[in-house]
Amino acid sequence: MAANHIYVLGLETSCDETAASIVEMPVENGAASGAGRILANQILSQIDTHAPYGGVVPELAARAHLSHLDRLIAAAFDEANMGLSDMDAIAATAGPGLIGGVLVGLTTGKALALAAQKPFIGINHLEGHALSARLTENIDFPYLLLLVSGGHCQLLSVAALGDYTLLGQTRDDAVGEAYDKAAKLMSLGYPGGPEIERRARDGNRTAHKLPRPLLNDNPTDEDGLPTHCDFSFSGLKTALRQTAEKAAPLDEAKVADLAASFEAAIGDCLTTQSRRAMQLFRHQSHKQVGGQGTLNFVLAGGVAANHYLRARLGATARDEDFNLFVPPPGLCTDNAAMIARAGAERFAAGQINAAPMAIAARARWPLNDL
Ligand code: KG4
Ligand code: ZN
Repeated sequence: MAANHIYVLGLETSCDETAASIVEMPVENGAASGAGRILANQILSQIDTHAPYGGVVPELAARAHLSHLDRLIAAAFDEANMGLSDMDAIAATAGPGLIGGVLVGLTTGKALALAAQKPFIGINHLEGHALSARLTENIDFPYLLLLVSGGHCQLLSVAALGDYTLLGQTRDDAVGEAYDKAAKLMSLGYPGGPEIERRARDGNRTAHKLPRPLLNDNPTDEDGLPTHCDFSFSGLKTALRQTAEKAAPLDEAKVADLAASFEAAIGDCLTTQSRRAMQLFRHQSHKQVGGQGTLNFVLAGGVAANHYLRARLGATARDEDFNLFVPPPGLCTDNAAMIARAGAERFAAGQINAAPMAIAARARWPLNDL
């Protein structure tokens, strides 16, 4: 059967980006048959709104989503040269996220779907990230996923659409949160990730000896496989604060060395635990398919936009005989294309909630609960 195409409008309002996107996805036998195309990708960052506070203020975020979402949806239809009646379905983030913002996108999506009599699909934001690499690359399931964002740091085995198994996760701060806090304590502004990355380029990665929590804690089971691939970043943040206080007053060169040393520690944590997860994933894959060969490793989430970390994780993937896939930086950070794509995949598979208007906004919603 030749592929036909479906068109989905996606809305994203769970944090500090207001976004609307339209994607086209080729479908064959009830599943995606390739990357497809992003026909519109409208994103409005609220960074300027929140920057004076050094972090996202939920109430301000919700109000900004409400003010701008309608205009962004209209701009998305313009950009794609399409209208609501051309859509096969409407998808919006239903959680996890800041509840006021989630409500704005979810309610808008439901209203559009009701008005146009189209199916509505409530999407888990993390599933959007988990599938984001499929927007631009032809990657089949299963794959190993490292999801690194402002709210999450997890290693997951993605067996199929909707089938996610947690292999490891942070026991305290998310990795993006660690970047943001590190930037704040060096007065570098919000969001911290891009700024630390920029400063670290001029720094010495071995200038300061910062801790690598949980790396020496590596128990194995009777098969010699790691029993956890967890992360912990709160101790690293405290150590960075103490080191920065000792080095004060900070000048450009000192900030660069601190940023570079911090990033090196994060890189060691992410690569070491990803390597352990690759060993677990390889073992599980062998059990399932009984074959050798190259497996797939996918990065997603805002922190995956970081070039230094992409390079480090790429080297680990090569060592362990995994192919690395990373979305372009603009699809790593929050966007609505990934929400539209997740909606398209679920629509194609017939995985749609029977009572879509009853879908509630959720502040917490683990991916392995789907
Ligand atoms: O995925 P995302 O846009 O939003 C969430 O779902 O959380 O991720 C935002 C996080 C922020 O903590 C930000 O500092 C971090 O991603 N981030 C980066 C970079 N760009 C964004 N962290 C490190 N390096 C970057 N280049
Ligand atoms: Zn996100």
